[in-house]
Amino acid sequence: VYANPAAGAVAVAQRIAALIRSKQADGEKTVLGLATGVTPIAVYAELIRLHKEEGLSFKNVVTFNLDEYYPMQPGSVQSYVLFMNQNLFDHIDIDRDNIHIPDGTLAEDEIAAFCLNYERQIEELGGLDLQVLGIGRTGHIGFNEPGSAPNSGTRLVTLDDLTRTDAARDFGGKENVPTKAITMGVGTIFKAREIILMAWSKKKAPIIKKAVEGEISGDVPATFLQLSDNVEFILDEPAASELT
Ligand code: F6R
Repeated sequence: VYANPAAGAVAVAQRIAALIRSKQADGEKTVLGLATGVTPIAVYAELIRLHKEEGLSFKNVVTFNLDEYYPMQPGSVQSYVLFMNQNLFDHIDIDRDNIHIPDGTLAEDEIAAFCLNYERQIEELGGLDLQVLGIGRTGHIGFNEPGSAPNSGTRLVTLDDLTRTDAARDFGGKENVPTKAITMGVGTIFKAREIILMAWSKKKAPIIKKAVEGEISGDVPATFLQLSDNVEFILDEPAASELT
């Protein structure tokens, strides 16, 4: 638990940087699972600073984003492609071929094959070294909403009503928020060698309490993380305020 989000974000960015540097020293690639949303923005800002001021290179980094709305054009202001470009990729030296984000432009009958291939690409690289997560007020990780199975893989899902309410501002009204998304599964996330879930602010306190102390259940998908030894929650004091 950190005093404020900035301190927590810097700590996470430093962990990521240390991982990249140690893998680079061994001549290996670092495979990162990345999240969008408000929560990781300060982490990405610190990674950009480390790149610009301290020579951190992303040449050997491969990324897989958790999710994308469906349907979604990559040029739309709400797309996670645009988000990642603006908040990270445009400012670092990552090879564009090493960036993977679920494709919101697919025809529905292409999605299943795309998702299987997403899983296969992660596996062929030896799996995710580190997965960064936020948490939604429904308890979703990625867009694995209540009802998601612990062994779920990358797939097309229906967004929860509360998630669409929370996204309404970005879309200029809830009616404009897509009803579906493509997301890595709980099982995909679970296979990562390290998982860091971040949450800031009082607004996240009730769901953090459920995720950490509640009964393990598909009703709150983040509770499945209680079953892993490789998970760390990085919180600010308000987000941690309801923990006993
Ligand atoms: C985003 C994602 C979501 C968000 C969650 C929290 O890629 O997978 O699970 O992490 O909805 O969003 P923010 O950070 O905006 O509160």
